[in-house]
Amino acid sequence: MAPNTAAFFTGVQAPLEVRPADSPKPGPTEVVVNAKAVAINPVDYAMQLMGPNVFKWLNPPCVFGEDVAGEVCEVGSAVTKVKVGDRVAGLTNTAFQHEVVVKDHLLIPIPASLPYSNAAVIPLGLSVAVKGLFHKDFLNLKFPSLNAKPTGETILIWGASTSVGSNAVQLAAAAGYEVITTASPANFELAKQLGASQVFDYNSPTIKEDLIAAFKGKKTPGAFCNGGPAPPTHPPVIAACKAVLQVTEGRKFLALTMATPPGEMPEGFSSKFVSQLEGDEELASAIFGEYLPQALAAGKYMPTPKAQVVGHGLESIQGAMDTLKKGVSATKFVVTL
Ligand SMILES: NC(=O)c1ccc[n+]([C@@H]2O[C@H](COP(=O)([O-])OP(=O)(O)OC[C@H]3O[C@@H](n4cnc5c(N)ncnc54)[C@H](OP(=O)(O)O)[C@@H]3O)[C@@H](O)[C@H]2O)c1
Repeated sequence: MAPNTAAFFTGVQAPLEVRPADSPKPGPTEVVVNAKAVAINPVDYAMQLMGPNVFKWLNPPCVFGEDVAGEVCEVGSAVTKVKVGDRVAGLTNTAFQHEVVVKDHLLIPIPASLPYSNAAVIPLGLSVAVKGLFHKDFLNLKFPSLNAKPTGETILIWGASTSVGSNAVQLAAAAGYEVITTASPANFELAKQLGASQVFDYNSPTIKEDLIAAFKGKKTPGAFCNGGPAPPTHPPVIAACKAVLQVTEGRKFLALTMATPPGEMPEGFSSKFVSQLEGDEELASAIFGEYLPQALAAGKYMPTPKAQVVGHGLESIQGAMDTLKKGVSATKFVVTL
């Protein structure tokens, strides 16, 4: 393999610099992935714009990037899940380089039929969805399986066409929950394909009333409150999720993917900000390591949102981040390496 190269973040608002980098060594429970594709997320341009004052762990010059897909090229001494040569996608925080370290519980073994560019869209969106839906401190739902029985409960998952929401809809449906969701009309069909029973236009002036009517008589485990990337649009999303829980039987809990304070909560309500999966090894292994590889191989999980390859080589990442600031619909930008 050629010597490692990385796209370095050197300081607030400075363009990424592509240059040689040390080859990383895996710890006992880590692997090194020879990256074939990386995906670009809104948090990447946010880190570049705001730097260490907001994202405290950044210490430039350093490398960021969350989503990688590629071939395992080195494994730590305690790794049993994968071997050298295996095809994987993974969640990390240093993806924008050729040799990427990933913890073994955050690896997704992928089938030969799934192109790396499609697999790269999965890890970050999946991780937030998994934490919010299944972690015991959040919605604590039953786990997904290839033949889940209906639970009899209905969950509101806001934002079916977002990266996070599109994974959440699929996972909750595969766990046996009825899913009611929101999206723009152009993405209604997609939301249904992901497993939603009903989908409503979040831009409609009657969205709150529409959802309240749809949830009439339903029992719910809470709401997955997940708006788009623009913070000013978040308060009405939170208000509508609260309004739905107020008229339904069940748990009054909001899993908030957005870093927007939930505002005043009605009595008996609670909420919690959903961070990424990190140290949650048991939960991550159950979904990343067990459920998802089976579901992908069986054609029962759609890598979402759809990948749009916008360039090749680390030099393309800066342009991809700049273009992503303009927004996307049900799409994730991918750079192949
Ligand atoms: N907690 C974490 O660690 C973490 C990590 C990643 C993301 N997030 C958060 O999760 C949310 C989703 O992020 P993402 O990366 O998944 O987004 P994304 O895929 O970049 O979002 C693009 C989508 O947002 C949708 N959208 C825009 N405004 C919306 C609204 N008011 N309601 C519903 N959908 C809306 C658009 O839908 P249409 O095209 O259908 O209009 C578009 O498809 C954001 O708030 C983000 O900050 C949190």
